[in-house]
Amino acid sequence: MTLIIKNVTKQFEHAQEPTLADINLEIADGEFLCVVGKSGCGKSTLLNLIAGLETPTGGEILLNGKAVTGPGADRVVMFQEHALFPWRNVIENVKFGMEVAGVPKSQQEERALHYLRMVQMEAYRDYPIHQLSGGMRQRVALARALTLDTEILLMDEPFSALDKQTANRMRRELQEIWMKMNRTVFFITHSVEEAVYLADRVVVLSEKEKSIRDVIRIDLPRPRHVYDDVFVEYRHRILEEVQDGEE
Ligand SMILES: Nc1ncnc2c1ncn2[C@@H]1O[C@H](COP(=O)(O)OP(=O)(O)O)[C@@H](O)[C@H]1O
Ligand SMILES: [Mg+2]
Repeated sequence: MTLIIKNVTKQFEHAQEPTLADINLEIADGEFLCVVGKSGCGKSTLLNLIAGLETPTGGEILLNGKAVTGPGADRVVMFQEHALFPWRNVIENVKFGMEVAGVPKSQQEERALHYLRMVQMEAYRDYPIHQLSGGMRQRVALARALTLDTEILLMDEPFSALDKQTANRMRRELQEIWMKMNRTVFFITHSVEEAVYLADRVVVLSEKEKSIRDVIRIDLPRPRHVYDDVFVEYRHRILEEVQDGEE
């Protein structure tokens, strides 16, 4: 997998100025990349461009050398809100993505169970969605995303609607899953702590510049500890950059 974002600009119709200007970024195979930045700086827009849900107004995005022109089976998105179907139970929700992707029915059950086990939700396979907590719903959404075995997993603040304790647990488990599976992850968060915890590299998007302000490699072994001196140093440094010289 190679993902190259080349001179990408996005200006929405009727907008006074571009939301994103001249974004350049290469994502390595198997990398865990986190994007941080103030609310409204264009994080979701960047993710939507990679997902093919939005089209750049300039530049191009290349996935394995091919320009992204729309959504594709090589990418999957997981959003902050779980986007599960309330009329389907847990395992049926996990199977949904595979149904759309045309995975043979005979393989769906086994694959769904494999990933439900991975997110520790196998015991809830027949539960209706409304009986699950927020964290459990995001586990199901994660299992659904993982079953598609895509080149890249795009995650837009997947844990930010959860309480802190649940979010911390989810990020730890996501990291364990990522370490086992070696998938490429493009992860947006407004939490610098979450980014330093998870990322190989942290990209700071600047609202002022409408572009990438800095890319910081997190040179710490995993699992990381938020009270570790070096962790705290990274967090402070990146927080300052996110503030854009304000406050
Ligand atoms: N579909 C759209 N049409 C017009 N403006 C949009 C659209 N989507 C996002 N924007 C604008 O782009 C900017 C960045 O939004 P967004 O990417 O959602 O930021 P973030 O995810 O960092 O909070 C905001 O000013 C927002 O109003
Ligand atoms: Mg957003």
